[in-house]
Amino acid sequence: MLLEVKDLNTFYGISHVLQGVSLNIAEGELVALLGRNGMGKSTTLKSIMGLVSPQSGSVVFEGKDITGCHPYKSARAGIGYVPEERRIFPELSVMDNLFLGIKGGRISDNNDPHVWTYERIFKHFPMLKERADQKGKFLSGGEQQMLAIGRSLMGNPKLLLVDEPTEGLAPLMVKEVRNVLADINKAGVSILLVEHNLNVALSLASRIYLMGKAHIGFEGTVEELKCDDEARQKYLEV
Ligand SMILES: Nc1ncnc2c1ncn2[C@@H]1O[C@H](COP(=O)(O)OP(=O)(O)OP(=O)(O)O)[C@@H](O)[C@H]1O
Ligand SMILES: [Mg+2]
Repeated sequence: MLLEVKDLNTFYGISHVLQGVSLNIAEGELVALLGRNGMGKSTTLKSIMGLVSPQSGSVVFEGKDITGCHPYKSARAGIGYVPEERRIFPELSVMDNLFLGIKGGRISDNNDPHVWTYERIFKHFPMLKERADQKGKFLSGGEQQMLAIGRSLMGNPKLLLVDEPTEGLAPLMVKEVRNVLADINKAGVSILLVEHNLNVALSLASRIYLMGKAHIGFEGTVEELKCDDEARQKYLEV
């Protein structure tokens, strides 16, 4: 297993927002984590990344226990995180935003699918190439999302945690972002995707986790979810 999350319990003050969350991701997989608002999807990603500290449970990445590690250590270990808010630097150019995603430590090897260069990024994101010298603030929402994903790839992650990448985007852009995620996954990056757009999630993922309040209520393949009316009603439909 690339990532093994076991029995996480996370609190915000006295509210117990993750109650025994477990999930795993094999190398090369694209797995979706879905569920209604406020169930704890973002908190699950943040607990994996170390942005919030779980009170108990474990996060093991490539066999190494990284539970509660500082986020820079999770990043060094090979996990990239694309937050919901994207956090593009508005006054910096696209190139400089990408530059900030580079982290030291890895030796460049062009045959390694996990080593990303500007050229490789621009091959996957032609629209960023066209706008390489423009400031972040002049990009559209979709372009900013592409930049946020591109920037996290510059850190050469083996696993990317992506939180609601298509939120608020126009339909055409939703498709572009979807295709870019498919591409990146094909290139060898494993992905844990939190997504509200069910079509996007089901078209990308091989396996699905559904969250109910603070817990995982369903896990299975896309096919299994399609056959499980009860799970869909309970955890997805309004
Ligand atoms: N910083 C915080 N302090 C206190 N409570 C929080 C904080 N962040 C989230 N929560 C609460 O924790 C619960 C889980 O939130 P989380 O953001 O993980 O849900 P989510 O599944 O990502 O929801 P959404 O689909 O709306 O993004 C919610 O009840 C939320 O109100
Ligand atoms: Mg969220």
